[in-house]
Amino acid sequence: MTEIQAGFDWSDRYLLGYAPMDDTHREFVTLVDALLKVPDAELEQALTAFAEHAVAHFEQEDRWMRGSDFPATDCHVDEHARVLVSVREVQQELAKGHVDIVRKLAQALMNWFPGHADYLDSALAAWMVKRSHGGKPVVFRRDSAKA
Ligand SMILES: [Fe+2]
Ligand SMILES: [Fe+2]
Repeated sequence: MTEIQAGFDWSDRYLLGYAPMDDTHREFVTLVDALLKVPDAELEQALTAFAEHAVAHFEQEDRWMRGSDFPATDCHVDEHARVLVSVREVQQELAKGHVDIVRKLAQALMNWFPGHADYLDSALAAWMVKRSHGGKPVVFRRDSAKA
């Protein structure tokens, strides 16, 4: 059951209204898309770039949570840590020449991200916006921005 995976495209439905997080999430999508599409010869470089991004992405959110007394930190931090463990394992497998496992990781990340963003990141984004502006996040989506 080999699935052909075209790629991972950004969608404005991923916007959460906290700009620093939205910028990071765009980068996440771009780097996972590269993991799906680059030729095998460029896969190690793409995986290194993704791993560096993932560390910074998750550290940034963990820092926001811990620095703002966010009430539901633990399961979110744990989920980040689990993803990083998988990334490290896949880096080791790639070093042994296992290319397919990188593509599988990329597909798993593509499937994982929307749920993680909806259930965990969105609460943090709302919290961060509320702290800085005292209100709910304003999300400008392309289809609503022209109204
Ligand atoms: Fe995130
Ligand atoms: Fe997160």
